[in-house]
Amino acid sequence: MTAREVHDWLGSLPVRDGWTWISTPRAFAHDEGGYDAQYANDPANLAVGRGMVRLLRRRGASFDRPGVEIGCGTGLLSLGLAAESPYPLTLLTDPSPAFLRITRDKVARRGVEPSRVAYGVLMGEEIDRLPAGAFSLVALRSTLHHILDVDRFVRDAARALAPGGVLTFQEPCLEGYVLMGALVQFLAPLAAASGRALSPAQAAKVDEFTRSMSFYARRDVDKRQAEDKHLFRVDELMRSSRAAGMDMEFLPNVEYNQFDSPADAAAPSPVSFTAFFRSYARYCMSWDEALMARFDELLVPYCRVVEESSGGGSGPYLHGVFVATKR
Ligand SMILES: C[S@@+](CC[C@H](N)C(=O)[O-])C[C@H]1O[C@@H](n2cnc3c(N)ncnc32)[C@H](O)[C@@H]1O
Repeated sequence: MTAREVHDWLGSLPVRDGWTWISTPRAFAHDEGGYDAQYANDPANLAVGRGMVRLLRRRGASFDRPGVEIGCGTGLLSLGLAAESPYPLTLLTDPSPAFLRITRDKVARRGVEPSRVAYGVLMGEEIDRLPAGAFSLVALRSTLHHILDVDRFVRDAARALAPGGVLTFQEPCLEGYVLMGALVQFLAPLAAASGRALSPAQAAKVDEFTRSMSFYARRDVDKRQAEDKHLFRVDELMRSSRAAGMDMEFLPNVEYNQFDSPADAAAPSPVSFTAFFRSYARYCMSWDEALMARFDELLVPYCRVVEESSGGGSGPYLHGVFVATKR
């Protein structure tokens, strides 16, 4: 499909409160404006979408049809993608109109030519509503783990792609997160053995970390009501991609923005386990400085074996970039 045909298809859909409804809207589980505050409107954020585009160029991906992003949130990936504008049209989608408004304002402030970007309310579970074979790109950053039926999503994303088109996402991996959860549960006994037990509030934060890793990893609980649902296994995603007619590459422990830097772009360095573990506790699990001090004192020494075991390779998979190309 050409950009004009995708525009025409969007024009045939209902418009409510100024947004094209591919799906019925759904607000995010947390305040959208508060979520945006953590990214501080940093111009460095442009590197995320630009890095993704540079990675796809290096992989020889096709750019001749429109691209679509699922779960654009506050535009962390979208902004660089829209600013580069390598596709004839970039369709940015999210279930939350509040997120779409934030992203649209950021894209407009960058001066992106309005005819090259479109916006739509879309649930990932309803990506089968996109026209078949219409897109050169389906992209997600930290969104696939919110979508209930991943195999179905992969199949339906492949259907939306033209041959040579790419499904790409950056997502967390099961083994590294389970390893973090397994290690973190030793913090309370180690603190008690050191003669300075954790406070009840600190013990509760540690317990929350362990239980969250276990919940995300499990496949035997009902996750319909949970916002964060999954951790991924590379072998499973490769299998579902192959079944959907795509060949998948996995780049472990790296992020899209690393492909933006000319020095690093060909082979970006994988993140260190300890650095990732620390920042996950600090920022994703909201540990305060006092609890981080106990982390550094008691857990970091036990991370050394993981660092050594990662020498010369990527180490346990914490997250990574997936690139699946439709045959
Ligand atoms: C963790 S945020 C990531 C946002 C953005 N992609 C980024 O990298 O900052 C997850 C995003 O996925 C969206 N989301 C949640 N559930 C979704 C679903 N079922 N289908 C599509 N998007 C969903 C949320 O509204 C939110 O924008």
